[in-house]
Amino acid sequence: MNIDEICNGIYYVGVNDRTTHRFEGMWPLPMGVSYNSYLVKGAEKVALIDTVHVSQSARFLAHIAEITGGAGIDYLVVNHMEPDHSGSIHAIKAMYPGLKIVGNSKTAAMLKDYYGLQGDDVMTVADGDTIDLGGKSLKFYMTPMVHWPETMMTYVEEDGVLFSGDAFGCFGALNGGVVDTQFDTTAYYPEMYRYYSNIVAKYGMFVQKAIARFDGVCINYVCSTHGPVWHDEIARVVDAYSRMARFEGEPGVVVAYASMYGNTEELAERVAMELSRNGVRNVKVYNLSTTHVSFVLADIMRYNGLIIGGPTYNNGLFPEVERLLSALKGREFKNRYVGCFGSGSWAPVSSKCIKGCLEGLKVEMVGDAFDMKCSMHDTDAERCHALATAMAAKVNG
Ligand SMILES: Cc1cc2nc3c(=O)[nH]c(=O)nc-3n(C[C@H](O)[C@H](O)[C@H](O)COP(=O)(O)O)c2cc1C
Ligand SMILES: [Fe+2]
Ligand SMILES: [Fe+2]
Repeated sequence: MNIDEICNGIYYVGVNDRTTHRFEGMWPLPMGVSYNSYLVKGAEKVALIDTVHVSQSARFLAHIAEITGGAGIDYLVVNHMEPDHSGSIHAIKAMYPGLKIVGNSKTAAMLKDYYGLQGDDVMTVADGDTIDLGGKSLKFYMTPMVHWPETMMTYVEEDGVLFSGDAFGCFGALNGGVVDTQFDTTAYYPEMYRYYSNIVAKYGMFVQKAIARFDGVCINYVCSTHGPVWHDEIARVVDAYSRMARFEGEPGVVVAYASMYGNTEELAERVAMELSRNGVRNVKVYNLSTTHVSFVLADIMRYNGLIIGGPTYNNGLFPEVERLLSALKGREFKNRYVGCFGSGSWAPVSSKCIKGCLEGLKVEMVGDAFDMKCSMHDTDAERCHALATAMAAKVNG
């Protein structure tokens, strides 16, 4: 059970979910996920920041009771209405009927539409407003589209604690400890790339805006809605998020391919080998039929190069390749060097289709796209070499 005082009257009361297979019905959770909620105790009033997924309401209420010892709660601040955080609002309201739900005008509309809550139950705040809890004041920052339109962040001025919502969050349940000072966080960083690239990526501009708002603001703890509370590693986490928000990749190439009978796979292996021969140290090869696109997106977010390959399938793209391309489009991936190759037995069109799908994305096409007929011949090996050489020159700068 991960309930702890983070600092000076601010407590973690969130829960772990090690049962759900797919977050948002789509994204695998090999390390689980935490839904974080926090209790802020002032001298006069007590505020709860966000709730948890409805499946975890009972545990959540027990955590709160353990911290409050049965005392009341005055406010529930709703930084984000997505149901992984608002799902226990009814349970909280039933337990603490007098509590005021705090949100902005967009939150208020969703509170009504999701939960039928309005009128006296809801207190609307605007950017810069504060609520005094007695020795602790909550200040609200509107940060729309990180990751929904109503998203806001809440800052405890006296302690420099920022409740950041989904921003700075990551997949991965918490293993006993809550704050990064209490455990080795290494495993959470890949989960951060995956979380960001899967869920938030499209809203990079808004993430940058939100980060800019806290320039010069003293922040001792970043309490997001998923994953560890950041204290020692704030600079590293904010840097990782800033880079991702700008689609800034580090040198490396993801080779993402699909193959039915292994011939296209041979091209992928050859391209990877040639990349390595050309000095690319980070080469990540993924078979799109065996690795969920979630993990592939994470590495595409991390590295500056991408090569996509797949067979022609009924005069079009292989479905798994199409899935990746549509995920890239949906997230408006940019600032990447991209190459592609394909194959077919009688009328190959896959490299042309891949290129077509990438149109409109702000990426730089590298090397010559090509299609192999049936199996790898010397000319195909030479094309792999040429593509990899061109890509290596780009990604290594
Ligand atoms: C269901 C199916 C549909 C295919 N459709 C086409 C096609 O429309 N045009 C074409 O040139 N080849 C087509 N092919 C052939 C494959 O694209 C070709 O064999 C390719 O090299 C397969 O690569 P692989 O060995 O990596 O699976 C099709 C193959 C299958 C099994
Ligand atoms: Fe969200
Ligand atoms: Fe979330």
